[in-house]
Amino acid sequence: MEIVIHDSAAELARMAADVIEEVVRNNESPVLGLATGSSPLPIYTELIRRHKEEGLSFAHCTAFTLDEYVGLPAGHPESYYEVIRNEFTRHIDIDDARVFSPDGNPDTIATAGERYDAAIKEAGGVDVQILGIGSDGHIAFNEPGSSLRSRTRIKTLTNQTREDNARFFDSIDDVPIHAVTQGLGTILEAKHLVLIATGAGKAEAVANMVEGPLASVCPGSVLQLHNRATVFVDNAAAAGLEHVEYYNTSIERKPEWQKF
Ligand code: GLP
Repeated sequence: MEIVIHDSAAELARMAADVIEEVVRNNESPVLGLATGSSPLPIYTELIRRHKEEGLSFAHCTAFTLDEYVGLPAGHPESYYEVIRNEFTRHIDIDDARVFSPDGNPDTIATAGERYDAAIKEAGGVDVQILGIGSDGHIAFNEPGSSLRSRTRIKTLTNQTREDNARFFDSIDDVPIHAVTQGLGTILEAKHLVLIATGAGKAEAVANMVEGPLASVCPGSVLQLHNRATVFVDNAAAAGLEHVEYYNTSIERKPEWQKF
């Protein structure tokens, strides 16, 4: 795992956008893994800017979101299907039909996970997966206790996650209680994981993810099993890390030819 600490959220977003741009430019049919939540927004803003100002094209890309609430009606502005379009894909030239989300329809939920994993496989697997982390250490909607090898499936949201996400709804009662989420095993199959976390509210989760034991109680710790995981954090989110000096030294001494 590489830990990149920087005090500017904009600079972190630029570095993460460089990783995505590299994948987009150097693959014939790149598959992007997209996360919702506020953490990746500066990355999307930067990629939209590069599309508009520098001609970066996403026309040959396919994208898969990480997760979806169960039971929100089609077109609901807080469904992740809509959120990813409003915040990112509608502003670039990706084919809308190639932006996929798990099926959160309660009537067909039983097979939603299996179908989603099959679609990712069919597309050739995710080349680069953007991730955020919840304050309780969850990634996507894999709440604490999620099997480290889990596949895409329905999960019950914790009260903490529902409280954290209540800001997007009129009241906490409107936050769905279930979600369909890529499993930790599914996420681990992406070729490169790029996680971004900013703000003091993420410090404990980041410390547990990076330096805690590999344990399902902190689902983010599963990144320790991946051979290519890059974690972009600001100083506030890095505040609980013990080995900051080593992480900074590693980045300073990173060989010129070695990219993230
Ligand atoms: C939600 C999403 C996660 C996201 C998390 C943190 O629970 N399912 O993918 O990482 O929120 O969101 P934020 O970046 O807004 O703190």
